[in-house]
Amino acid sequence: MPPKHQRPYLPFGDLKTAPWYGKNILSVGQFGRSDLEYCFSVAHEMRIMVERVGTFDLLKGKILANLFYEPSTRTQASFMAAMQRLGGAVIPISEVHYSSVAKGESLPDTVRTLGCYADVIVIRHPEVGSAALAAQHAQKPVINAGDGVGEHPTQALLDTFTIREELRRLDNLNVTMLGDLKFGRTVHSLARLLARFSGIRLNYVSPEELGMPRDVMDEVSAGKIPQRVETRLDDVLPETDVLYVTRVQKERFEKAADYEKVKDAYVITAETMKAARKDMIVMHPLPRVNEISMDFDSDPRAAYFRQMEYGLYVRMALLAMVLGKA
Ligand code: NCD
Repeated sequence: MPPKHQRPYLPFGDLKTAPWYGKNILSVGQFGRSDLEYCFSVAHEMRIMVERVGTFDLLKGKILANLFYEPSTRTQASFMAAMQRLGGAVIPISEVHYSSVAKGESLPDTVRTLGCYADVIVIRHPEVGSAALAAQHAQKPVINAGDGVGEHPTQALLDTFTIREELRRLDNLNVTMLGDLKFGRTVHSLARLLARFSGIRLNYVSPEELGMPRDVMDEVSAGKIPQRVETRLDDVLPETDVLYVTRVQKERFEKAADYEKVKDAYVITAETMKAARKDMIVMHPLPRVNEISMDFDSDPRAAYFRQMEYGLYVRMALLAMVLGKA
C-alpha cells in the first residue's frame, strides 16, 4: 500500500466493517445516541460531497428497489436521488396496481422477488408492521419508509438532522408538535428519537381526538422527558425552539365528517408567528394542505423546504451505511 499521504482522499470508511452493514432500518428504536452521531456525521459528509461534486460513485453497481404502496413525493424521490447521486441504480415500483400486487401477490412474495434483483429494499405500506414483515421475508436489508400510522424512521432521522444543522444543538430544546399527532407517523418516530437527548421538553398541541398515542408517550416518559398536552398553541408558542407542524391525515379517517371537523384546527400564518422567538424554526414533513399559510414561507424561520434537502443527505448516509460503505 502507498504511504498514507499518497493515498487518494476517501472521506468514508471501508467496506463491511461498518456497524450498519446489511441491517434493516425499521424503527428509531434501533438508533442509540452514538448511532445518531455516526449517521449525522456521514450525512454531513454527504452534504459536502453533493455541494462539491454532485454525484459520485460510492455505490456504483448497487441497486435499490423502491416499493411504494402509498402515495409519496419526497420520500420516494429522495431515495431515488440519494441512490443515483451515489452512483447506484433504482427499480421504482410505485404503481403497485401495475405490479403483481394487483394479481393478489402477498407482501412476502413481492419482497422475496425484489431481493433477487436489488441490494436493498425501501418500502412504504399502509399497515403497521408491514416493513418488519417484509424484513422477515426479504433476503436483503429493508428500510421502512412509513408503515401506516406506525413509524417513519428515516423521516425522524432527517428531522433530527435538520434541527442539528439549523440550531446547532440537539440538547436543551423545547419542541412543539402540532396537528394530527394520532395518525401522523412522523411525530411518533420523532418524539421517540428526541427522547434520547437531554434537556428536551415536548409539547403536544392537537384537537382532543387527535392526541399523541399513549404508547408513544409512555416510551418517551421512560426517558424522563417532560411532556405537555395542550389544545391551544398560544400556551406554548412563545417558548418553542422547534415548531413541528403536521397535516391532518385525511386518508386515515373512517368518516369524512370527522375529518371535516378537525381539518383546519390550526393554521400557522405570519401573524401567528409574531408571538414566537426570532431564533426558532418551523418544520413540516410535507405535504402541507392548509396548516401553514404561504405568507410565512419567506420568513427565515420557515425551515420546511430546507428540511427536504437535508432528507437527501440523510438518505444517502443511510444507504451508504446499510450497503457497507460508510
Ligand atoms: C409524511 C408521511 O408520509 O408520513 N410525508 C413524508 O414522508 N414526508 C407526512 C404526511 O404525509 O403528512
